[in-house]
Amino acid sequence: MSSSNFQLQHLITLLLFFFISSTFSQQSFRPKALVLPVTKDTSTTNQYIAQINQRTPLVPLNLVVDLGGQFLWLDCEQHYTSSTYRPARCRSAQCSLAKSTACGDCFSSPKPGCNNNTCSIFPDNTVTHTATSGELAEDVLSIQSTNGFNPTQNVAVSRFLFSCAPTSLLEGLASGASGMAGLGRTKIAFPSQLASAFSFDRKFAICFSSSDGVVLFGDGPYGFLPNVVYDSESLTYTPLLINPVSTASAFTQGEPSAEYFIGVKKIKIDDKVVSLNTSLLSINSNGIGGTKISTVDPYTVLEASIYKAVTDGFVKASVARNLTRVDSFHPFEFCYTNLGGTRLGAAVPTIELVLQNENVVWSIFGANSMVNINDEVSCLGFVNGGENVRTSIVIGGYQLDNNLLQFDLAASRLGFSSTLFGRQTGCYNFNFTSAT
Ligand SMILES: *[C@@H]1O[C@H](CO)[C@@H](O)[C@H](O)[C@H]1NC(C)=O
Ligand SMILES: *[C@@H]1O[C@H](CO)[C@@H](O)[C@H](O)[C@H]1NC(C)=O
Ligand SMILES: *[C@@H]1O[C@H](CO)[C@@H](O)[C@H](O)[C@H]1NC(C)=O
Ligand SMILES: *[C@@H]1O[C@H](CO)[C@@H](O)[C@H](O)[C@H]1NC(C)=O
Repeated sequence: MSSSNFQLQHLITLLLFFFISSTFSQQSFRPKALVLPVTKDTSTTNQYIAQINQRTPLVPLNLVVDLGGQFLWLDCEQHYTSSTYRPARCRSAQCSLAKSTACGDCFSSPKPGCNNNTCSIFPDNTVTHTATSGELAEDVLSIQSTNGFNPTQNVAVSRFLFSCAPTSLLEGLASGASGMAGLGRTKIAFPSQLASAFSFDRKFAICFSSSDGVVLFGDGPYGFLPNVVYDSESLTYTPLLINPVSTASAFTQGEPSAEYFIGVKKIKIDDKVVSLNTSLLSINSNGIGGTKISTVDPYTVLEASIYKAVTDGFVKASVARNLTRVDSFHPFEFCYTNLGGTRLGAAVPTIELVLQNENVVWSIFGANSMVNINDEVSCLGFVNGGENVRTSIVIGGYQLDNNLLQFDLAASRLGFSSTLFGRQTGCYNFNFTSAT
């Protein structure tokens, strides 16, 4: 072998070595947490929209965030092109993870969402309460990792499970959305799939606002500008409760709900206990009653008798504070003018949700209770759900804005921060400048 030939071989070996080691280092980078940027569509739907990349080549998608949603579902009928799409074959491990026993064929030409010998699940549009049947499938999902303070590098999950849905299921979602991102309690929802792909804790946090926000998968601490850090010391914890009966539009008997319930025991307004029919506050054996957290309901929805008791209490406390009430503004009934301002929003009676004991309280201040209608008028942002509702209290988006909520699935508990305004920051203050 001539020396130049030897050198060339050597160079190739070296290059090969570098190539292999760089591939390895990429694969062996294991993020401790991931971040998904979210914006709120305040112009029409008040839905929270997450941006994520999927497929090969990667396509950016807008997805409506569904806190209690069972999994990711996407419109596969329009523009789904990907070299890495794989349908889940009948009786495969993927089908059992998704708890699917429905097996079938598709009588049209094969394409994403239509393949033979695949199992199907039921994508659920929880805004319109419509479900269809859809092929279970896997494809590449790319997401930014984070150190809790900034995004770091992108990482990919090569076989992220989701369900295909027809374009018609998108009805009722914000324009430009191509599906819903379910963050619920199932094994194939985002929190569990990402935790198992990267072997981190089954914990995630949401922190949304009327503009930017984040979903953070994995454990904290989580930081917001200017240097405000939330960790287990700064959160208050309450048990997450399991509703034994599914709240989905289509489900099999015996399946628990994928949604997140907490145990509200009492409601106080300016320290006065509101008198309620307490049996409505617990979840009965038919899955009726209790309190859940929802990102698809824009405002907190209360069962009729609870709504009456809470709003009566609010009006009484407002009279005691000499607040000036004005005409209602649909869908809100209790509107005020000339309200004073505080760091925590309009100066109105404080609404407290008392949880497992008197010391564990979710306080709702003006910033989360009063919705500004115009420069003069703000209204109490709670709506009447009517009688015979499935869930008595549904804590909705407006009441969640600028509150950090951490869902710890392994310990089955919720950590909550109360309004970030109390520490002079907001959920819009995550620093999206990448740190590398
Ligand atoms: C599934 O199999 C049936 C019967 O063999 C065939 O008519 C149909 O075209 C196939 N569909 C797909 C999507 O391959
Ligand atoms: C309290 O609520 C339960 C459950 O809806 C109902 O059966 C009961 O009649 C209610 N009690 C009163 C006093 O209204
Ligand atoms: C409300 O107005 C009454 C009468 O003007 C006054 O006596 C009272 O101090 C006021 N209360 C508050 C909380 O401002
Ligand atoms: C945001 O993070 C970047 C990267 O770490 C940093 O350089 C920048 O100073 C941060 N921004 C602020 C306002 O602190």
